[in-house]
Order: sequence, then structure tokens, then C-alpha cells
Amino acid sequence: MLEVGPLNLFYGDSHIIQDVSISVADGEGVAILGRNGAGKTTLFKGIMNGGPLARGPISHRGSDIVGLPAFARARLGLGLVPEDRRIYRHLTVSENIQMGRHAVRPGTQPYALEEVLEFFPMLRDLKDRQGFELSGGQQQVLAIARTIFSRPDCLLLDEPTEGVAPVIVQDIARQLSLMRKNNGTTLLLTEQNVWFARSCTDRVYLLDSGRIVFSGSWDEFDADAGLKTRYLAV
Ligand SMILES: Nc1ncnc2c1ncn2[C@@H]1O[C@H](COP(=O)(O)OP(=O)(O)OP(=O)(O)O)[C@@H](O)[C@H]1O
Ligand SMILES: [Mg+2]
Repeated sequence: MLEVGPLNLFYGDSHIIQDVSISVADGEGVAILGRNGAGKTTLFKGIMNGGPLARGPISHRGSDIVGLPAFARARLGLGLVPEDRRIYRHLTVSENIQMGRHAVRPGTQPYALEEVLEFFPMLRDLKDRQGFELSGGQQQVLAIARTIFSRPDCLLLDEPTEGVAPVIVQDIARQLSLMRKNNGTTLLLTEQNVWFARSCTDRVYLLDSGRIVFSGSWDEFDADAGLKTRYLAV
């Protein structure tokens, strides 16, 4: 169980995330929807200790992680796929994937490269290419593969479909759903693509101007048509 909040996050004097509480049970899939600037990336950075100043509790599988640096949070099983992907431009696809070993938990074996290529067959044909030779969508798949390599028990994906072609979006949705089903991986993702978010999660939070303005099942989300028009750019 990942338990966050009430959490407040600050950039200097700017109070970006305000009293946000989120919990994700083991094996659960949860989406956080919100338009540009809602605070999605800031929230994930706060959970990983990757920038903003944080006030409030955060625990993962019963361990208090407040005060731990980002790499220590990763080694407790939290795997972030950052919005900007951070692919190593001059390393090959295979080498990029294996960079994920830095986040391996003590006592856990990372996946074999072959297993990761099995999850994302499209990377197999690209495995000797360098990072800068990939399309944006291919880089996104690679960023996910690199994070999965270390076998995180909770995967945090920050807008994984942004700028990604529909056929690759479908592929990512299928693979994430399989990871949940076969490995019990917990999934927390931020999105603006409602179709994608729904296809791989069980329930949804809506974030607007740094606050949670809705929390419920997808059925409850659908029942209130005003939510989309008020809080999402659709
Ligand atoms: N490093 C920073 N310093 C100061 N303010 C920041 C910083 N990063 C983000 N912000 C501000 O925090 C707010 C939330 O930004 P954030 O990037 O978390 O939104 P987001 O929901 O991820 O948006 P997007 O969908 O565009 O990725 C915005 O008002 C943004 O200008
Ligand atoms: Mg963002």
C-alpha cells in the first residue's frame, strides 16, 4: 500500500500541491487525471523526493519514506517513469534498459534483458539503436522498460501517452494490464488520455490546481459528465 498525505508541496513560495491524500492498495491500478499545470508531475516528484519541498506523510508498504532520497525510495520498490523520459541518448536501447539495475531492491533479481524485450517486443528490433535514434513513442516504451527492469512493486507513470502514437498507446495499455495481472504490479499513473487511463486502472482521482476535486470508480466518473468539461481539456 502506497499512502500519501495529506501532502503539501512547494516550489519556493509557490504552494503547488495542497492537502492531497492518495492511497493505492497493493496490486491496485489508480489514475490521476488533470489538465496541464494541475500538479501531476509535481505530485510524483514529491512522492519520489525529486524536487519540491514536501510537508506531510508518505509511506510505502508500511515503511515511512519521508526523508529518504529518491534512490532509496526506488530501492523500496517505487519505480517512476518520468514525464521527460530521460533516455541516455548515446547508449543503446539494451544499455538503457540495463541502467535500471541501479534501482534494484536488495534481495531482488532484476529481469533478464530478454524478459523485458518479451514484454515490449517492439524494442527487440531496436535493441542496438542509440537513444537519440528513437521516436518519442519508442523512447516512452524504452523508459517504461528501463523502470520495469528493476522489478518495482509499484510503478508510477507520469503521462505515459503524451505525444505517443495511438498504436503504441494501445501496446503500452496492454502490457501494463498484463503486468498487473501476471505480476501483481501496483500501478499509479497520471494522464489526460481518459481512454488509456481507464483501460489499465480500477479507479480515478481528479487533480485541479493542486487539489483533489474528485475520487471514485470509473463508473462514478462517467456518471458525472460535468467532471470532464470542468477539469479536463476535452
Ligand atoms: N520547478 C518549478 N518551479 C516552480 N514552479 C513549478 C516548477 N515546476 C512546476 N511548477 C508549477 O507547478 C504547477 C504544476 O506543474 P506540474 O508540472 O506539476 O503540472 P502537470 O499537471 O504535470 O502539467 P502537465 O500536464 O503540463 O505536465 C504549475 O503551475 C507549474 O508552473
Ligand atoms: Mg506533468
